Amino acid sequence: MRFCPLGDGLWEVGNDVGNINEDRPAKLSCRNVWKIYGEDPAQFFSGGNGKVDDPEAHAQAIRDSGHIVASANVSFDVGEGEIFVIMGLSGSGKSTMVRCLSRLVEPTAGEVLLDGDDLLRKSAAELIEIRRHKMGMVFQSFGLLPHLNVIENIAFPLKLQGVPVAERKERAEKVIALVGLEGREDSYPRQLSGGQQQRVGIARSLAVEPDLWFLDEPFSALDPLIRRQMQDEFLRIQEMLHKSIVFITHDFLEALRIADRMMIMRDGLVVQMGTPAELIVNPADDYVAEFTSDVPITRVLTAGDVVDRARKPTARMPRVEQDCTVEALLGQLASNASGVAVTGADGEPIGIATAQGVIAALAAEPARSGDAT
Ligand SMILES: Nc1ncnc2c1ncn2[C@@H]1O[C@H](COP(=O)(O)OP(=O)(O)OP(=O)(O)O)[C@@H](O)[C@H]1O
Ligand SMILES: [Mg+2]
Repeated sequence: MRFCPLGDGLWEVGNDVGNINEDRPAKLSCRNVWKIYGEDPAQFFSGGNGKVDDPEAHAQAIRDSGHIVASANVSFDVGEGEIFVIMGLSGSGKSTMVRCLSRLVEPTAGEVLLDGDDLLRKSAAELIEIRRHKMGMVFQSFGLLPHLNVIENIAFPLKLQGVPVAERKERAEKVIALVGLEGREDSYPRQLSGGQQQRVGIARSLAVEPDLWFLDEPFSALDPLIRRQMQDEFLRIQEMLHKSIVFITHDFLEALRIADRMMIMRDGLVVQMGTPAELIVNPADDYVAEFTSDVPITRVLTAGDVVDRARKPTARMPRVEQDCTVEALLGQLASNASGVAVTGADGEPIGIATAQGVIAALAAEPARSGDAT
């Protein structure tokens, strides 16, 4: 078993649970989840809890038998109000994993706990209720119904719930405003741009007011400018609604913008889990490093990383917060040669950041210093 140091603790790669912040209780927990496709997947697990001594060797043995290992021993927690991102190459098991969370795909082994309750033990009827009331899903392909207009598409899940017409309309209008589609209520999907269609998809998934929000590459069909706008919209909505979110993306810069924590998958297994910054600064292996390689280090390092705590700021120095990125800090330093004051969590100065300090920090990252410009 390999170990990879992250943050201030040791993490057991592929077999441990992604511990979450103590002050953020787990909304959803995945424990040793496996999804095997093929003739007889159940033969590889006794008892069904998915715990095995050596997950990598077990996955390989299953592959050698001619089965497909789509998810292998995946464990993680998603906290209340947390945005948890899953990344990995095509075929690494991301969509399978997110579908296992709602049992749209039935896991072969393992546990999925929603508020501590095992989803895998729910009856089909209970599961439908949970999906309809507690889960929202957004897919890359938008998945809109072509013969329904915007408001009908958005209200559709409410219709399935048996919500009365007037309330359906009221709730649909509320989410239409939330995603900025006012005035387009009567348009049909074919009359909308890709970005607008995805807004309908997002509104539809939010209409049921879900606790859990699953988004499978929701913005990857959109061009970069619209994509960035949609990310901003998404963050604005999350700021208001505080959903517990699992978000799949191929784009590390997207993950960097939105993720509280993230997980990288390969061949169904979890390779690494942590904050985007932890993965960038301390990738577990070359596979993870490859994902993070085009992220400029100036977007990762913060004023807190480059602060000189031994020096006291003067009263006239401008102030920046310690989690301000070096990218944002550089502009301030250009017009303040003697440096800027860096403030801590309590708003009090903790030292000075200078251009010299930034250069020293960038020089300490030789592999990435070329990205810094
Ligand atoms: N119904 C199925 N039957 C057999 N194999 C499947 C099935 N669904 C998925 N797989 C396999 O499981 C593996 C994981 O697929 P999955 O769709 O989860 O990948 P992904 O990481 O979401 O990829 P992408 O980035 O391309 O969307 C792949 O090898 C895929 O071929
Ligand atoms: Mg997928």
